[in-house]
Amino acid sequence: MATSNFSPAATRFITLLFSLVLLLHAGESDIRLNYYSESCPRAEEIVKEQVTKLYHIHGNTAVSWVRNLFHDCMVKSCDASLLLENTKGLESEKMSPRSFGMRNFKYVNTIKQAVEKECAETVSCADVIALSARDGAVMLGAPHIAMKTGRKDSTESYAGVVENFIPNHNDSMSFVLSQFQAIGIDAEGVVALLGAHSVGRVHCTNLVHRLYPEVDPTLDPDYAIYLKNRCPSPYPDPQAVEYSRNDRKTPMILDNMYYKNILEHKGLLIVDQQLVSDPNTSPFVEKMASDMGYFHDQFSRALLLLSENNPLSDDQGEVRKDCRYVN
Ligand code: HEM
Ligand SMILES: *[C@@H]1O[C@H](CO)[C@@H](O)[C@H](O)[C@H]1NC(C)=O
Repeated sequence: MATSNFSPAATRFITLLFSLVLLLHAGESDIRLNYYSESCPRAEEIVKEQVTKLYHIHGNTAVSWVRNLFHDCMVKSCDASLLLENTKGLESEKMSPRSFGMRNFKYVNTIKQAVEKECAETVSCADVIALSARDGAVMLGAPHIAMKTGRKDSTESYAGVVENFIPNHNDSMSFVLSQFQAIGIDAEGVVALLGAHSVGRVHCTNLVHRLYPEVDPTLDPDYAIYLKNRCPSPYPDPQAVEYSRNDRKTPMILDNMYYKNILEHKGLLIVDQQLVSDPNTSPFVEKMASDMGYFHDQFSRALLLLSENNPLSDDQGEVRKDCRYVN
């Protein structure tokens, strides 16, 4: 008979320790590379095919995928809570003022349906958001990155607290930095992520306060004339499709033109312009403006950190069948 070298008390303690470790592990989410290698080997390929196809029909879908990652992951967790629609007892995060201007949500369903067709109820909407952001960024000229999968979908919306997580267009840089710091993204990463504002657009409602009644002195005067032309009224109709592109020179490329623009005082949002005036961020702006490879490296690094924010474990979430509704 095998006898233990440990006293009964020690054995009990060790058993307890083991169960505790197991318990902790069970509560942990395990996102990893190639999570779907057995359950849905073509998952990543299907997402990429769809992102590519959609990009060739509507180029700005790729822009939306990058913004979706920010708005989903920044608010508590990368859990596709962003995609839930208004239903009885659930208010959609899309209704938040911070979600203003977000578009192309219907095409997320196109991607999810393609994945469902091959592997039913296997690949989460949170992973669809993460992978489409990764592949969307590639369509816009960013480097490909290996990304972990295995995120689970939330069963609730955080509509009530979106504004506590996503900064406003005119928030101070110190506030913005602290918001990102809270999810492990440093100033260098924040400067890189805001480089996403090298693509896409800003509606006049988010611009006019820099143009009227007086032009913001941190805005290039010639650029202000251009923007006033784009936004002729100080009180734009929020329904009107009145906007300016973020980057007039390369509007659909995720390049370092954004940093060159803000150095020339041609940033659209107050947060964009503050990257230049804040000593915590300005050295990175200078470096990214002059070194595309460095920008891309930092963008990839920070995008990965964002995409790994607090994923849900199996017992906290589910794999939604339809990204718009909990199962
Ligand atoms: C301090 C942080 C940020 C603030 C305050 C902010 C704010 C905004 C605002 C106000 C718009 C324009 C919405 C409109 O008028 O239509 C916008 C657009 C956009 N943002 Fe941000 N943003 C921030 C960070 C980010 C990050 C981290 C990403 C992604 C990595 C991102 C990606 C985008 C993209 C791609 C667009 C263009 C969307 C389109 O054209 O459809 N933003 N952002
Ligand atoms: C920031 O902009 C919002 C409108 O989006 C406005 O209500 C608020 O007063 C502004 N805050 C500051 C500090 O300018």
